[in-house]
Amino acid sequence: MPNAAAPAPEGSDRSVPLHVAIIMDGNGRWAAARGLPRAEGHRRGVEALRRVVRAAHELGVLYLTIFSFSSENWSRPATEIGDLFGLLRRFIRNDLATLHSDGVRVRVIGEREGLEPDICTLLNEAEELTRANTKLNLVVAFNYGSRQEIAGAAQRLAREVAEGKRDPASIDADALGQYLDAPEIPDPDLIIRTSGEQRLSNFLMWQAAYSELVFVPIHWPDFDKAALESAIAEYARRERRFGGLAAKTGS
Ligand code: IPE
Ligand code: IPE
Ligand code: MG
Repeated sequence: MPNAAAPAPEGSDRSVPLHVAIIMDGNGRWAAARGLPRAEGHRRGVEALRRVVRAAHELGVLYLTIFSFSSENWSRPATEIGDLFGLLRRFIRNDLATLHSDGVRVRVIGEREGLEPDICTLLNEAEELTRANTKLNLVVAFNYGSRQEIAGAAQRLAREVAEGKRDPASIDADALGQYLDAPEIPDPDLIIRTSGEQRLSNFLMWQAAYSELVFVPIHWPDFDKAALESAIAEYARRERRFGGLAAKTGS
């Protein structure tokens, strides 16, 4: 009976989640409601991101993962993709020094192949510069899709089997988990999605197995510290069981 007595992962007994992951959604609708171009919604979304990085650290969160561009977002018009990539470039160029001096470690998950070389260089620079920082881990999911990530892990395991380096019987959930993009980062305790949509849209589907999901109606550009605090308060009211029995009653 593997995993029968698996302890609840580290952080699960805290009222503040160790790892918060956010699906930053609703930029376009925020802009449309104000008669503004979608690009303005994305620009204001970056401002919300700055606020939330600061707030997450102030509230005691150690890992913050943000969904910034999905594998499926390539189906948007080229101009919008250009806007989103431009904002990422500007965010790294303008904010990297501040993030670094604030002790933030930047990590990037997602597919790098096929991205423009200057974007790859910026992402690598951000990771290299901040490698030793320990205050807050900011994990940027860029060109990220959970199915693609899991398929990539399966491909690496299959290759090891084909090369005679691995016994197929050794492939279990832990082995596959080790080949995901950032295996050393704990699973998210709390996943927040803004804008009222209630789906994962190919975000961290493996890692979300026991995450608490909180859906908030406000659009991402309006998200702030108070909204994060209220999502964390909702999280603190949840009872996490990990397949076991309620801890409080023992029944
Ligand atoms: C989130 O806002 C940003 C990205 C997906 C990159 P959207 O652009 O999805 O905004 P809506 O959902 O159309 O309002
Ligand atoms: C998810 O939002 C992707 C990001 C926030 C980067 P989408 O707006 O792309 O998701 P769907 O299409 O509404 O499911
Ligand atoms: Mg959306």
